[in-house]
Amino acid sequence: MSSSIKHVAIIMDGNGRWAKMRQRPRVWGHVKGSNNVTEIVKESAKMGLESLTLYAFSTENWSRPQDEVTNLFKLLKKFLIKERKNLIKNNIRFNVIGNYKVLDSKIVQEIETSKKLTANNTGLSLSLAINYGGRAEIIDAVNDFLKDNRAQREVTEEDINKYLYNPELKNIDLLIRTAGDQRVSNFLLWQISYAEMYFTDTKWPDFTTQEFREIIASTEARERRFGGIENTNTLEKNKYLADQNLKILS
Ligand code: IPE
Ligand code: IPE
Ligand code: MG
Repeated sequence: MSSSIKHVAIIMDGNGRWAKMRQRPRVWGHVKGSNNVTEIVKESAKMGLESLTLYAFSTENWSRPQDEVTNLFKLLKKFLIKERKNLIKNNIRFNVIGNYKVLDSKIVQEIETSKKLTANNTGLSLSLAINYGGRAEIIDAVNDFLKDNRAQREVTEEDINKYLYNPELKNIDLLIRTAGDQRVSNFLLWQISYAEMYFTDTKWPDFTTQEFREIIASTEARERRFGGIENTNTLEKNKYLADQNLKILS
């Protein structure tokens, strides 16, 4: 794909409000929302995106009522099993970011199975963020670095990139949040440093593949300057220019 938008992340928000508007229990919204994940994943593979990262459960979501949390994990287990054949059929590599090892052992098993079965796929890289927090990820990265290097030297940007849960995602190009709120809610704090942001009022169960394509097209048309001036269009190129300028000035 020649597009400048290769790595997309989505905060899939609004399931509860979607259900409430229809006088249904919140779990109904989560069921509809999980069905929609299948559609958006399929479309991402079709479009040739390199990676799609979906926020499914945050470290803060544990504070929801216990029955909602239970329902969410029941649905997640179903989703993992149901989606596996699509991942295989569409050449998608599956990954999870977040501290998922503490979850119910059956869920951990389903995750590991999907990861293993799709590890050699070469198409879309799909990451589900489960029990994920952006601050926790940065803390884990620094601590893993310290363990490996016994504090022999200072930590660098490259070190943190290397120790992220999925280093492939180090630069997200576009972050979409559905359902109208304009905040980041502890998602991918490190990786979105130069991401384009797109907020839509559409609630996640109503978010269509057509709107998804339109958002990507409209973001492609934006000029990304990465701190430079017009037409300096990659983060890597601007870092190089910055280094050259520093050398000349010193
Ligand atoms: C997003 O929908 C799904 C999860 C956080 C798991 P919400 O459940 O947050 O829905 P709203 O924001 O209450 O409408
Ligand atoms: C963010 O949505 C987390 C997920 C979509 C999984 P929330 O609904 O939990 O975020 P807040 O509480 O509105 O910030
Ligand atoms: Mg919400």
